[in-house]
Amino acid sequence: MSTTQPPQALSPTSTGEIVGIASRKAATAVLTAHVAVIKGTPMRRAIGEALAGGGNLGGKERRFIAFATRELSRHLRRLNLSAAARGYATSKLSLPEDQAIFRYAIWRRDICGAGVEKIMTEVALPGPIRPRGIPDQVIRAELERKVEVDFGSTPLDQAANRHSFPTWLAERIAAIAPEGELDQVLEALNREPTLTLRVRPVGTRDALVNELRAKKYEVEACTELPDALRVTDGSRAIFESRWMKEGRLQVMDLGSQLLAAFCKAQPGQTVVDYCAGAGGKTLVLADAVTTTGRVFAWDHSEKRLKEARNRVGELKLRHVSFPSPPRIDLADLVLIDAPCSGTGTLGREPDQKWKLSPKQIDELTVTQLGILRDVSKHLKRGGVIVYGTCSVLRDENEGVVERFVSAQPEFKVDELLRVWPHRLEGGGFFGARLIKS
Ligand SMILES: C[S@@+](CC[C@H](N)C(=O)[O-])C[C@H]1O[C@@H](n2cnc3c(N)ncnc32)[C@H](O)[C@@H]1O
Repeated sequence: MSTTQPPQALSPTSTGEIVGIASRKAATAVLTAHVAVIKGTPMRRAIGEALAGGGNLGGKERRFIAFATRELSRHLRRLNLSAAARGYATSKLSLPEDQAIFRYAIWRRDICGAGVEKIMTEVALPGPIRPRGIPDQVIRAELERKVEVDFGSTPLDQAANRHSFPTWLAERIAAIAPEGELDQVLEALNREPTLTLRVRPVGTRDALVNELRAKKYEVEACTELPDALRVTDGSRAIFESRWMKEGRLQVMDLGSQLLAAFCKAQPGQTVVDYCAGAGGKTLVLADAVTTTGRVFAWDHSEKRLKEARNRVGELKLRHVSFPSPPRIDLADLVLIDAPCSGTGTLGREPDQKWKLSPKQIDELTVTQLGILRDVSKHLKRGGVIVYGTCSVLRDENEGVVERFVSAQPEFKVDELLRVWPHRLEGGGFFGARLIKS
């Protein structure tokens, strides 16, 4: 009989906390979703489909499925190294189902610290997914075996391996991260996102926190902003609350709220939200300019703008309109919430790490500069552009701003914003206020 080794030390990238409940049914859905991700399905869709096809799942099982599927992509490189140290390099695990089950089992053991017996109840045959090339005995024996994972010799390799980042991406983050804080930045980018909300109308947050607590919602005020609050127990019950239905609460990452606040939109101003997408920041800008001002929202994707139109319509924000072209010539302020790599919000979309490439970053900077140039041509003198991203990379942030102002010297950088994900409970964001003289 084999002996059970004590679980390996928890990964430093682990939240140390498992979200939801790991049952056999939930494990099956996680494996189904991860196989779909391996085959190229975007993660959100893969999770949605696995939840829909998972049968009669409880709320905690559903939360585990979304969490664990993200975790398998989040820790992919580390899990592959651990599998390889056990003699199962990805190339040897030819079936995506085998890759998934091996990774899942190692994740439960190395990162969650779960016991071998418990893991086997989740993954042992019959099921949970077929076809299966690895027998249960092999999985069990490998989980019981203590292995040393070699994270590499240089500090950069160690950080990239330990926190599961492609080396090129870890290198670029290392080039801009505050000195000595690379590990913390990567760890924060691997964190499960906190549910953060913005309270409307402006100035009513503290009263609403009290009301919510009286109704047993676990919330707290965010110290960084006067209108932000976070849900502290991971529950999603607040989505069903009357405050959410009445439009008093808007789901919005804290970093995203800081970027919107950085615009400093004032009552009475005319503001263009040039990359409005689904309208998250449009609502913040509309509240800031009040009904004495106006917001013109625009996006090159009519499909994405449709959601913004619906939200604005539901909230009856009559001072928000959608002219095309968006009348930049009338604007005091233009927000360019630019399309970007999303490297500041990998906690939400961990599969992005493995889809991005240096070439794509170069292409994104060309698009970002193009948008800045288009907007700048129409802006009046004294007008302000706020250029923002949810990227942590220098190329898309300071790099783009430097290239823009050196080609358009009539623009001066008034202020820069860097939101580092390890310094708050939110994603990494960047902003630059540019004034046209
Ligand atoms: C970061 S998202 C915007 C998110 C949105 N501001 C919010 O807060 O919900 C970037 C948006 O830029 C849009 N976009 C991409 N290229 C564009 C372009 N050339 N002109 C205008 N919008 C563009 C995309 O369709 C996408 O909706």
